[in-house]
Amino acid sequence: MSDSIALQKAKRIKGEITVPPDKSMSHRAIMFASLAKGKSTLKNFLMAEDPISTMNAMRMLGIEIEQRAKGKGQKVTSELVIYGKGLYGLKEPFDVIDCGNSGTTVRLLSGILAGNPFFSALTGDDSLKQRPMARVISPLKEMGAEISARDNNKYLPMAVMGKRLRAINYIMPVASAQVKSCLILAGLYADGVTEITEPQRSRDHTERMLRAMGADIEIEGRVIRVQGFKGSLLGSPRRVRLSADESPEATRVQELNPFDITVPADFSSAAFFIAASLLVPNSEVLIKDVCINPTRTGMIEVIKNMSGDIALENIRNMSGEPVADICCKSVGGLKAVKINEDIMPSLIDEFPIICVLATQAKGITEIRGAGELRVKESDRIRAMAEGLRKMGAEVEEYKDGLSIKGNTKLKGASVDSYGDHRIAMAFSVAALIASRTTTIKGISSVNISFPGFFELLKRLTK
Ligand code: S3P
Repeated sequence: MSDSIALQKAKRIKGEITVPPDKSMSHRAIMFASLAKGKSTLKNFLMAEDPISTMNAMRMLGIEIEQRAKGKGQKVTSELVIYGKGLYGLKEPFDVIDCGNSGTTVRLLSGILAGNPFFSALTGDDSLKQRPMARVISPLKEMGAEISARDNNKYLPMAVMGKRLRAINYIMPVASAQVKSCLILAGLYADGVTEITEPQRSRDHTERMLRAMGADIEIEGRVIRVQGFKGSLLGSPRRVRLSADESPEATRVQELNPFDITVPADFSSAAFFIAASLLVPNSEVLIKDVCINPTRTGMIEVIKNMSGDIALENIRNMSGEPVADICCKSVGGLKAVKINEDIMPSLIDEFPIICVLATQAKGITEIRGAGELRVKESDRIRAMAEGLRKMGAEVEEYKDGLSIKGNTKLKGASVDSYGDHRIAMAFSVAALIASRTTTIKGISSVNISFPGFFELLKRLTK
């Protein structure tokens, strides 16, 4: 089967849609439910390649997961029942755990495995094997973990021998929710209080979910403190005293509580349709039930600064996260903006599609402080600069970002996604406003986060 698609200019896009469930929340829900003691139900779980890597990993670690597929045709969502075995209930895997393309799987899992008393080995696909792992390995080693990895502990494959961990104070050199979450999870297994300081606030789904499960996590600005569960690697978790108002003899094993969750739609997937409706003339799209956690929605601020028409309707709470229906219209007249490192973590995955918006905004849009984009599923700065130039845009590339001259008429070209789902989807949106035909290579990657993306695009552009 061909791994490319040819797309044409669209007349308009119109409709009411739902996009797939949140990827970050799906990963976390499955991992954390596995660590809880008892049965959890996950509704609207994202059945895409990345979270499936996490599901397979948890099964290899001995967790029973029942899967009930939902929906017709493209089965993008599923209901899962997870029988969690407690913080120390995982078993030694029989084989190497393959995390596929998923950085979230490997980085969060390494924090869990570091505190579990068995041997495990982790690897991934060619992209994941080139992504930096020292950022989790070195703080975990500081906590007492025994880990070794390829090329002097920089890259996968990685071998972990779980140990009793000690709490540390760690100042993170880069904002990363994956690194932060890894250390929070390791902190649950550590003696004492682990303190993590981020340079900028990254997505906080881990903190929200674990706190709702009963973990003792304190957040003060950019500082996160996690109280370890005082488990013992030598046997079952140590029994601790209950609070003063209960019988002084009473003891309990501290564990995470199981939960039921409905995963809202992923803002990062919605972003492509938000941008498409702003760019294609005569368009209007309503995207239902989207998670609008403020650590994820920097793109909304950017669009407002660009004078784009975006509105949040029906704001409410779903499973401990704010959600809304997002309504976007094309009104033209977008203006260039400056984006810097302060806002970057809240729009990190939207960088490719914001670059496409920038090609149509009057003036020069400059994006700096985005060095992390070079070590994502692909080098996203290079991939966007290369493809947009081929489509006729004027792009200047920097080490930590790029600038794009706006109000450019894009022309169809042959562009490469470098096997990166978000690059493939960003160029698909660019194709909707380009003259002639745009051919995008490496489109099967959309199954990482958004199975059914092209079908939905086709339906809306009809
Ligand atoms: C994610 C965190 C971000 C993001 C990734 C998902 C997560 O990565 O880019 O797609 O679920 O924690 P970093 O932690 O590397 O910034």
